[in-house]
Amino acid sequence: MRVVSAGLQAFFRGWIHPDNPYRAPRHPVLYRIWQAFMTVTHRPTEEDLAQIRAFLPPRLWDLFLQMPPAEQAHGLRVWRALQAWGVQDRDMLMAGLLHDVGKSRFRLRLWERTLVVLLVKGFPHRWKEWARANGPRWRRALAATLEHPHQGAEMLARHGAPPRVVMLTRYHHTPIEALPEDLRPAMTLLKKADRQA
Ligand SMILES: [Fe+2]
Ligand SMILES: [Fe+2]
Repeated sequence: MRVVSAGLQAFFRGWIHPDNPYRAPRHPVLYRIWQAFMTVTHRPTEEDLAQIRAFLPPRLWDLFLQMPPAEQAHGLRVWRALQAWGVQDRDMLMAGLLHDVGKSRFRLRLWERTLVVLLVKGFPHRWKEWARANGPRWRRALAATLEHPHQGAEMLARHGAPPRVVMLTRYHHTPIEALPEDLRPAMTLLKKADRQA
């Protein structure tokens, strides 16, 4: 039995991010399926919410509550991944929970998220032109993707978040090379957690 179990673990090791507490698959197609499944099924528990409430300042906790449950769960997964890697930097952990808060007002549906992934991958040089915050739903979904880092940073600044949390949120989809040196180590880890969550 032990041999079978060891064999299975060895087989799956290459398929799963070994350091991710939610065991996200590495393979891009499997990862998308896993992510869609998590979007529909994963919700923070009472225990999770109590821990997050104890961690966030009251005004940022209010912002967290404004996020749809699927976005809360994504923030929670990023937070847990950072914690699992031993991150104790409060700014990074706050950004983990709240970096996608700018998506709150768009309330994307699963089919819109899926379409966005396909359009961004399929038309990397065109999709930004199609984004319209006041357009039909598929164009709104692209606008959410394009604008949420900036909008989230504005919301966080208005709610008194520390400047570094605002910066990490504003630039969480910006290439690392374009960022100031002092932000790069934290952003590298935040991006890694975001990719796996
Ligand atoms: Fe994002
Ligand atoms: Fe994210």
